[in-house]
Amino acid sequence: MIHKLTEVICHGIPDMRKLKAGEIINIDITVYLDGYHGDCSEMFVVGGRDALDKKGQELIQTTYDCWVQSMLLVRPGNDFNVIGNSIQEYVTSRGFSTVRSFCGHGIGDVFHCSPNIFHYTITQSLGKMKAGNVFTIEPMICEKLPDPYMWEDNWTATTVDGGRSAQFEHTLLVTPDGVEALTGKLDSSPIQWWEEESTIKQGIFLGTSESAKAREDELNQK
Ligand code: CO
Ligand code: CO
Repeated sequence: MIHKLTEVICHGIPDMRKLKAGEIINIDITVYLDGYHGDCSEMFVVGGRDALDKKGQELIQTTYDCWVQSMLLVRPGNDFNVIGNSIQEYVTSRGFSTVRSFCGHGIGDVFHCSPNIFHYTITQSLGKMKAGNVFTIEPMICEKLPDPYMWEDNWTATTVDGGRSAQFEHTLLVTPDGVEALTGKLDSSPIQWWEEESTIKQGIFLGTSESAKAREDELNQK
């Protein structure tokens, strides 16, 4: 498990520093089960939403919304570049920036494999999605500059300007009729405010395939 605090873009290593109200954290969890890897992450606010300033709330909401919007574009026949194109357009029009130095990835019996999933605009074709493809989408969205500053540990990447960064991640399967998140939540997981207030998709997102939508409806009715 890797977590990141406030200005960490990714790969933060947990330490003994005490959390402070209003800090935002991404917790990234990976599993290895029956020969396959899974990779997902979600945001948490120390002290809850009320402890977070308005800009921070906007950062999390925008990160969530650009991520869901890009997942809604995953289906057989679509070019892989629609993911980054939609993310960059969505976040820059709201005054935020998207990290270029780290990307999503194919995942399966190997943790990082092809294709690379870019979270920024790429004009040329990156190839077409096919049923059976499994990969992550995990945009890292920043309040200010998206450029990383690598710590001396050669692992932790923070923003160069100390601006905040947020991220969400799912492992996704392309199905004949759309997409399914393979990294869902427990039935008992609370619905978060960014899910409730999303302008892209209200409630829990699990995918666009028929079975994913049926499961979504069941959870969202609770
Ligand atoms: Co990942
Ligand atoms: Co991850």
